[in-house]
Amino acid sequence: MQFPFTVLSLALGLVVSVSAQDSPIEPANFNVTNALIDLGVDISALPKLDALTNRSSTSGCLIACESLEILFGSSVIKQGDSAYDGFTNGYWSVQQETVNPFCIFKPSNAVSVSISILISRLTQCPFAAKSGGHAAFSGASNIEGGITISLEKLDIVQPSSDKTTVDVGPGNTWFNVYTTLQPLDIAVIGGRVSGIGVGGLTTGGGISFFSNIYGWACDNVASYEVVTASGIILTASPTQNSDLYFALRGGGNNFGIVTKFTLNAISLPGGLMWGGGRASLPPTFDAVVDAFYNVGINSPSDPNAAQILSFAYAQSANLSIAAADLQYAKPIANASIFAEYLAIPAISDTTQIRTLANLTQEFNASNPDGLRETYWAATFKLDKTHVAAVRDIFFEEIQPIIDAAGIVPAATLQVITEGQLAGMAKNGGNPLGLPASNGPYLLLNLNMMWTNIADDTRILQANQRIIDRTVALAQSMGLYEDYIYMNYASQFQDVIASYGADNKAKLISIAAKYDPTGVFQTLEPGYFKLNGPPVAGRP
Ligand SMILES: Cc1cc2nc3c(=O)[nH]c(=O)nc-3n(C[C@H](O)[C@H](O)[C@H](O)COP(=O)(O)OP(=O)(O)OC[C@H]3O[C@@H](n4cnc5c(N)ncnc54)[C@H](O)[C@@H]3O)c2cc1C
Ligand SMILES: *[C@@H]1O[C@H](CO)[C@@H](O)[C@H](O)[C@H]1NC(C)=O
Ligand SMILES: *[C@@H]1O[C@H](CO)[C@@H](O)[C@H](O)[C@H]1NC(C)=O
Ligand SMILES: *[C@@H]1O[C@H](CO)[C@@H](O)[C@H](O)[C@H]1NC(C)=O
Ligand SMILES: *[C@@H]1O[C@H](CO)[C@@H](O)[C@H](O)[C@H]1NC(C)=O
Ligand SMILES: *[C@@H]1O[C@H](CO)[C@@H](O)[C@H](O)[C@H]1NC(C)=O
Ligand SMILES: *[C@@H]1O[C@H](CO)[C@@H](O)[C@H](O)[C@H]1NC(C)=O
Repeated sequence: MQFPFTVLSLALGLVVSVSAQDSPIEPANFNVTNALIDLGVDISALPKLDALTNRSSTSGCLIACESLEILFGSSVIKQGDSAYDGFTNGYWSVQQETVNPFCIFKPSNAVSVSISILISRLTQCPFAAKSGGHAAFSGASNIEGGITISLEKLDIVQPSSDKTTVDVGPGNTWFNVYTTLQPLDIAVIGGRVSGIGVGGLTTGGGISFFSNIYGWACDNVASYEVVTASGIILTASPTQNSDLYFALRGGGNNFGIVTKFTLNAISLPGGLMWGGGRASLPPTFDAVVDAFYNVGINSPSDPNAAQILSFAYAQSANLSIAAADLQYAKPIANASIFAEYLAIPAISDTTQIRTLANLTQEFNASNPDGLRETYWAATFKLDKTHVAAVRDIFFEEIQPIIDAAGIVPAATLQVITEGQLAGMAKNGGNPLGLPASNGPYLLLNLNMMWTNIADDTRILQANQRIIDRTVALAQSMGLYEDYIYMNYASQFQDVIASYGADNKAKLISIAAKYDPTGVFQTLEPGYFKLNGPPVAGRP
């Protein structure tokens, strides 16, 4: 027996409107059912009353997923379908792979994203959005018992006719983007590892090989096409909905689902540049810190140069190593700014002139999927003594965990250079709250992979200890900067608060305008929300 969906909307419409505020985007009497009808959804053809007898989230999600399936057919994958495990295994970390959504929805256009958000509101079935699936912790882009909206079909890479911008869908990995643009002699400011998604990297910030010249990915977005909580498709740019544009430059998934990024293009003839990794052993570690510090400090003298330095432990060889990944934005080998690094004896060296896409493939190979993963972040004013201390604290604190099966612990160091900070100020600025006057900064990213769930707690606790000690030391040296980079943060870190009280308040008021009922706070609970970290407390 079929019952019209309006019965459901009557029951739940009240819930939806209770907390509604005055918003120019969504009026207090916003009717989700009518919004769906306006989008051409034939409500009367949708689910059955028996699913309504229980308003647990499971029955809500059953209704939501059945409705999506009636509307979108094979774009919906349910538990038990043959494609289901293949999808969940496609996440980077095991923590995300082992989350089981009620269904997976693969919208092929922005309107379908709108419909799925409205159906989530009606049924109160929670959702998550997935782009490249590289966020490490559980629930960041996959949701237990809810709707995982996979953006993979939103995969356009379309340069403008004058090649100054490129429309890029969040369904792309950076590899697709770079290989498509290479024959046109252009590139964009994006990820450095081929398999990373456009969506997560760009909404959280985005450090690229070219950021010392142009700034971060989020600071090189000309405009966003975004589906808001009311299912409205808006453009956010410096001139349209500029408050939303500001918020999306690092505010994460708190404001809507971005269905298209219009990215500024840069010239990169043949896609060619120089780069690779040089590894060295403990006797070189002081020279490595010197080289790292000097390349960071001297960045304004040659912003083509970029670096990522990881101190790591190689379990099978029982060796501590320094891996310096060096890049140059032109096909020029051994630029003089790298002279100190290049004088350090290397046990391996892959630097060469090669394409951007090729370099991202090399880095992808060193970040395999299918392992347990954790990422942590902290920021400090760049100081050579402190950099060396961070290295030493890292090696000390990993001693109790280096016996964990399959562990690869690393402390990855980067400099947020003057050039990056200048990029953040473009077009009205971003909400990250990093004052250019205190830079350049050391960005610490702890990252560890391992095999057994039984080792989770002690590994997470070691990460917490390294953060605590490096922060306390920085505080005592007057070097602490309260900014936590979203894309590297752990589930225990309060990213939005780290942007500063003013920026947090601004983001909350922008969210109140575009999402007055807090859909992206409550119905999309994963990842870094406005009012706190994904997991309260410490590991
Ligand atoms: C191996 C590796 C290499 C990395 N390299 C870099 C690097 O070079 N530079 C750098 O800055 N960071 C880097 N990172 C960090 C990376 O930016 C984050 O992990 C990022 O979240 C990954 O994006 P994703 O789309 O793959 O992830 P997902 O897990 O798909 O998404 C992450 C979060 O973003 C949200 N989201 C995704 N798409 C959208 C959208 N369209 N609209 C709204 N919200 C959305 C998701 O809901 C989720 O909460 C790297 C990470 C890894 C694991
Ligand atoms: C929303 O609109 C539907 C008709 O489309 C109506 O039946 C329902 O009562 C409305 N809900 C609320 C809460 O006003
Ligand atoms: C409703 O859900 C609860 C648990 O959430 C369950 O105990 C109960 O049996 C359900 N009732 C019906 C009618 O399905
Ligand atoms: C690893 O090397 C250190 C010396 O650097 C040594 O003390 C330790 O016993 C070695 N561990 C193993 C498991 O071989
Ligand atoms: C760059 O330096 C490396 C040694 O670090 C050397 O092997 C290589 O030939 C140099 N390349 C050029 C083009 O000078
Ligand atoms: C890409 O890089 C690999 C090493 O990572 C190299 O062997 C290969 O020749 C490169 N291919 C191209 C087309 O540059
Ligand atoms: C990156 O590596 C993973 C394996 O760990 C692989 O599945 C994926 O296809 C690679 N991505 C690209 C774009 O090559």
